[in-house]
Amino acid sequence: MNVSAEVEKQATRRRTHAIISHPDAGKTTLTEKLLLYSGSIHLAGSVRARKAARHAVSDWMKMEQERGISITSSVLQFDYRGSAINLLDTPGHADFSEDTYRTLAAVDSAVMLIDHTKGVEARTLKLFEVCRMRQLPIVTFMNKLDRAGQDPLDLLDEVSKTLNLRVAPLNWPIGSGKEFKGVVDIPSKDVLLFSGGRHGQDRVEARRMSFEDAREEIGNSLFEQIEEELELLEIAGDAWDHEAFLRGEVSPVFWGSAMSNFGVEPLLTFLADYAAPPKHRTAFNQKKDTLVVDPCEDRFTGFIFKIQANMNPRHRDRVAFMRVVSGKFKRGMDVVVGASGKSLRLANPHTFMAQERSIVEEAWPGDIVGLYDPGNLRIGETLCVGEPIQFSGIPRFAPEHFMRVVLKDPLKRKQLDQGLNQLSGEGVIQAFYRRGMGKSDPFLGAVGLLQFEVLKERLKNEYRVNAVLEPAGFGVARWVRGPQEAVQWLEKRRDYTLVEDRNDNLVVLAPAKWAVDFAERNAPELELYDVEPLGAS
Ligand code: G4P
Repeated sequence: MNVSAEVEKQATRRRTHAIISHPDAGKTTLTEKLLLYSGSIHLAGSVRARKAARHAVSDWMKMEQERGISITSSVLQFDYRGSAINLLDTPGHADFSEDTYRTLAAVDSAVMLIDHTKGVEARTLKLFEVCRMRQLPIVTFMNKLDRAGQDPLDLLDEVSKTLNLRVAPLNWPIGSGKEFKGVVDIPSKDVLLFSGGRHGQDRVEARRMSFEDAREEIGNSLFEQIEEELELLEIAGDAWDHEAFLRGEVSPVFWGSAMSNFGVEPLLTFLADYAAPPKHRTAFNQKKDTLVVDPCEDRFTGFIFKIQANMNPRHRDRVAFMRVVSGKFKRGMDVVVGASGKSLRLANPHTFMAQERSIVEEAWPGDIVGLYDPGNLRIGETLCVGEPIQFSGIPRFAPEHFMRVVLKDPLKRKQLDQGLNQLSGEGVIQAFYRRGMGKSDPFLGAVGLLQFEVLKERLKNEYRVNAVLEPAGFGVARWVRGPQEAVQWLEKRRDYTLVEDRNDNLVVLAPAKWAVDFAERNAPELELYDVEPLGAS
């Protein structure tokens, strides 16, 4: 492996992360405040305003407007304290999709945002599990401290128990709601005092003083309570350990109020100084040997984790988002596309700043580049220079909703098959084919129901097919591995339908989770996976 000093310098200062949270926990607000504190924007309100403006001008997917949600997810990049911070947005609406999961394959750490009045909510839990699967380092931010919420020790306990995660607070709240006075920075025992009241658009500079000196401002009884809590934490809490954080074993915890601009700066400073730089990733070459790709290698590699069609409806464009894994990316470079080994010139790469595009000349490990693509690239595909390789990093997740297409006009069969093939390659939905029946008339699966709406719109607009979808009668899917006899056990039973995914991997569809449990009990040699097993394709 050739390490390039330039690549190493750039890679080690990259901090690529996403915010995971339940809708309404404050992700948009926090994103905006991170930009404000980094100096990238000068007045809070612009991200939201832009979000609104986009809805007003975009006629792609009218449902975006109708439902007031954002389907497109953007990538923000800014510099802070010498680090280059890439923040990937995960669509936060209630009806989320596989895109959210895939985004987590492209980051090196995640900020878990929790509304402290609500605790760990369903979506947070689900996203957290995906992060854990990838052993992603997680930074916890407890938000909305300007509102009365749970006792902080109880909340910490809830997070730790529900997620089975070691948590190490790096600061500690002084009161909450109207009583919210600020936070104690645990390593230095300094107090950052919140001036309160202003739901300002500007940066709030916290006043810093020693804990002892702040007794008067905090008030005797609250001071003593905090003193006790800090002692308890010292005895019973998990110690902060940076290495364990980078291994995804312990999560630092911060407290604040994104809306009132308080507690954002300590979080941002932590992200810049300590969040994970790009890590090595595993890949396979064409002989199926396993390779470990180090970000500091001078050879360029990257992979596609998201495809966004119709960002601009007038041009019917298609943007493939690529995460750079190693080496230096240069505009106009020639690469090979992993699976096919075909060569491709990356002539028109872009970065996206809250929907504003600009051309990128170069990019480094951890960066995200948007590539305009007429349909050559697929989700999960690797782009590299030299020997073709394939990263194993973008798993597919077992769908939870299943549909079939009822074709009203039989003359449209060809367009429909073509559309489903293309759109499942983009990751809009997953297609499952009956064995021995070719790549036609598949069952369709999705993690979020919204994916079917997207499919219908796109079939109509791009393939001129009016698809009617009807429930397929399944509730669960699992990738199947195991000896022939075990597979035959499944085949013989009426509760199970064996199908193949687009890469010819065996998948079983069943009515509900009980059927999976039943199979596991009665055919124990079967291996059933809710995430596509590595190397399956
Ligand atoms: P999301 O992207 O995670 O869905 O959340 P978003 O930032 O849109 O915030 C959801 C709501 O929570 C917003 O209120 C927002 O103002 C509020 N919020 C965010 N951070 C804080 C905080 O630290 N404290 C308090 N008290 N509220 C917070 P909204 O009424 O839905 O919208 P808006 O009218 O305020 O824009």
